Amino acid sequence: MTEIAALKAGLLADIEKADTLERVEELRVGALGKQGVVTALLKTLGGLSPEERQTRGPAIHDLRQGVTDAIAMKKAALEQAALDARLASEKLDMTLPVDVVPEGSVHPVSQVMDELAEIFADLGFAVASGPEIEDDWHNFSALNIPETHPARAMHDTFYFGDNYKVTDKDGTPRAMLLRTHTSPVQIRTMTSTSAPIRIIAPGRVYRSDSDATHTPMFHQIEGLVIDKGIHLGHLKWTLETFLKAFFERDDIVLRLRPSYFPFTEPSVEVDVGYTLVNGQRVIGGSGDDDEGGWLEVLGSGMVHRRVIEACGLDPDEWQGFAFGTGVDRLAMLKYGMNDLRAFFDGDLRWLRHYGFSALDIPTLSGGVGA
Ligand code: DAH
Repeated sequence: MTEIAALKAGLLADIEKADTLERVEELRVGALGKQGVVTALLKTLGGLSPEERQTRGPAIHDLRQGVTDAIAMKKAALEQAALDARLASEKLDMTLPVDVVPEGSVHPVSQVMDELAEIFADLGFAVASGPEIEDDWHNFSALNIPETHPARAMHDTFYFGDNYKVTDKDGTPRAMLLRTHTSPVQIRTMTSTSAPIRIIAPGRVYRSDSDATHTPMFHQIEGLVIDKGIHLGHLKWTLETFLKAFFERDDIVLRLRPSYFPFTEPSVEVDVGYTLVNGQRVIGGSGDDDEGGWLEVLGSGMVHRRVIEACGLDPDEWQGFAFGTGVDRLAMLKYGMNDLRAFFDGDLRWLRHYGFSALDIPTLSGGVGA
């Protein structure tokens, strides 16, 4: 055996015996590294005579190739073995019983707010919000409820003391209060973004009132559309489409009754028909049927031109409609709850009974007629 063949046999035997990646690396450096034996032989090629190069050249190149291949194969084999060992030691027994972690549920109010946002998103509405501590300009004046208006008294407003008044840019003092409705978000949206506008604004509102159907804090949702050429027909279609998706029924019948809100003209109250099923009111069908009746679900109307003007828009150019309703009330109607106070008691038994799983949200496409 030539000296090169002997060197190759020795190196290959060492590589074959190597049982760790570190050892393989050590051998690689010893053979192919800068000071390695194979590298040293390669360096001698330049000083050889052409005849010597003809015989030793191929042998040295064959040595380098053989050692390189053997190292690569050994490395791959050791890495595979390490992976196999890891997989074997990390085996999971899928048949073991799981630890049961108590799971929370989604509160009906959160559920209904998510449902509303989802349905109106499908109709192209964005979600807007505003502060719960409001000033009386946004909560009343800009909504065409001036200081002497009886509607201010009807709202049972929680006012902050005189110390908390803020002063307007033009020096007029503004009383601070807990917003009595979500309608100020209409004003905040109209004054901060440019028309056209399509928003809903769900949120908490406050009134000094408490009995089985009233709590001092409750939830409303406001809707606002401002665009050109908007009329009552758009309002009716939007509300009908929304209520069908929300109640997940195609047979929703609406009744629009003339009404009065300072911020809309004309104003309408919207009733939905219900049918009595085993003595229970179930939303759907015409309320004029023998076994039926009407339930008021929304206040709405065409945005009053004074409101549009107060927000700096030209009412001859921009029109729109608005609506507002109680989220808690919608939840009660849809899911058959009868005491509003239970919503805010935090009684776990009630929450376990009426709570929702996080994935349970009907959409417009999934809700109507599905
Ligand atoms: N803000 C009214 C309330 O709290 C509800 C309402 C009625 C809102 C008519 C509207 C509307 O936007 O057009 O009773």
